[in-house]
Amino acid sequence: MYKAPRGTSDILPGEQRYWRYVEQKAAVLCQLYGYQRLDTPVFEDVGLFTRSIGESTDIVTKEMYIFNDRSGNTLALRPEGTAPVCRAYLEHGLDNLPQPVKLYYLAAIFRYERPQAGRYRQHYQFGFEAIGEADPALDAEVIQMAWQFFQSLGITGLALYLNSIGCKACRPLYLEGLKRHYSGHLAGLCPDCRLRFERNPLRLLDCKKPACYGMAEAAPRSLDYLCPQCEEHFEAVQAYLNASKLPFELNHRLVRGLDYYTRTVFEVQPSQGGAQSALGGGGRYDDLIEELGGRPTPAIGFAAGMERVVLSLKQQKVPVSNLPCPRVFVAYVGREAKLEAVKIAAALRRDGVSAIMATGDRSLKAQLRQANSLNADYTAIIGEEEVKRQAVTLRNMITGEQQSVSLAQLQELLLVRE
Ligand code: HAM
Repeated sequence: MYKAPRGTSDILPGEQRYWRYVEQKAAVLCQLYGYQRLDTPVFEDVGLFTRSIGESTDIVTKEMYIFNDRSGNTLALRPEGTAPVCRAYLEHGLDNLPQPVKLYYLAAIFRYERPQAGRYRQHYQFGFEAIGEADPALDAEVIQMAWQFFQSLGITGLALYLNSIGCKACRPLYLEGLKRHYSGHLAGLCPDCRLRFERNPLRLLDCKKPACYGMAEAAPRSLDYLCPQCEEHFEAVQAYLNASKLPFELNHRLVRGLDYYTRTVFEVQPSQGGAQSALGGGGRYDDLIEELGGRPTPAIGFAAGMERVVLSLKQQKVPVSNLPCPRVFVAYVGREAKLEAVKIAAALRRDGVSAIMATGDRSLKAQLRQANSLNADYTAIIGEEEVKRQAVTLRNMITGEQQSVSLAQLQELLLVRE
């Protein structure tokens, strides 16, 4: 027997209501803030991701699903959503539109990670990107939109963490400071951090291992190294956030796992967080579009992990309504009645009433059991008598009440929902 590959899962019919709920909230939010949907391919040229996410990140070095197609192109399953949006922005000349261009996506993401609760090899993200504007008011708006997403879902107990990691001009000085802090203490660090020290010192701050915690806590802060422009930008972001009464907390260890970020970075996590706990994260990436061959174009965005959102909805027992159930199950007893039942079911559906037709000539009892398990509001029962009278026996599946209803009345009665 085959099983779904490790780290992937099936979203069964019983789960779908959570997913529809989140997707609908996402679509409403994007409408509120003026974001338009963009769908990009599941795979892209691998170079797009190595270039954007950074050669030394975990995603690029260990986690991408890379393959060659039959023409020898090297492709990767999308390990994140921002780079493809930027690629599409450039490819379709969206840089010629009035800026910023605001786009969102709901997309499957693939990362070869060690699976555990809330961490999968295929997961889905809801993300949005505002491209072509450097105004700190836009940073605040994007952060507010991310926060409103979780609020509109009814998820509580969340914290919003904020940091600024500076720009091309000031970051090198900060990295030097960071390395000075760590040098001489490398022996006490975990093997990953010893590598990070060489390849990607910013990520030292993000290590969750106990051995590295103290060093990261005591490390110099990027905020103390910002150039005057970055400092002014970050001050303004905070002023706008305060003006909209957003409860953010500064977190000097927040650095994110992708190299394209500049200036503002932020994450939404449960206030009692665990290691794999971020429900979503984002930030500015002012150099990325230029890196991909475009004009210098500032941008900012955010993405939330759908599985983690659904997990929180369940853990917090947020009421999520059921998906619509069939209005009527059409049951029959006998050959003639079956013919009539086929006609009735077809007529009901033509009129927009959802109708499930029994099949397989089972006993009436078995048919009613099926109607029950499908959660149908009614069962229309057709036997010899009903065929003669051009009527059905209509059974209310909740109260068990039955009444005889003429075929002429049936549609009308079922179209009206009490
Ligand atoms: P990210 O932080 O790598 O950012 O992913 C965004 C969110 O996706 C995470 O906060 C988490 O909820 C979820 N997530 C990530 N990896 C997994 C996984 N293996 N299993 C389940 N959920 C996961 C980005 O990808 C950026 N592109 C976000 C962004 C958009 N930045 C600017 N614009």
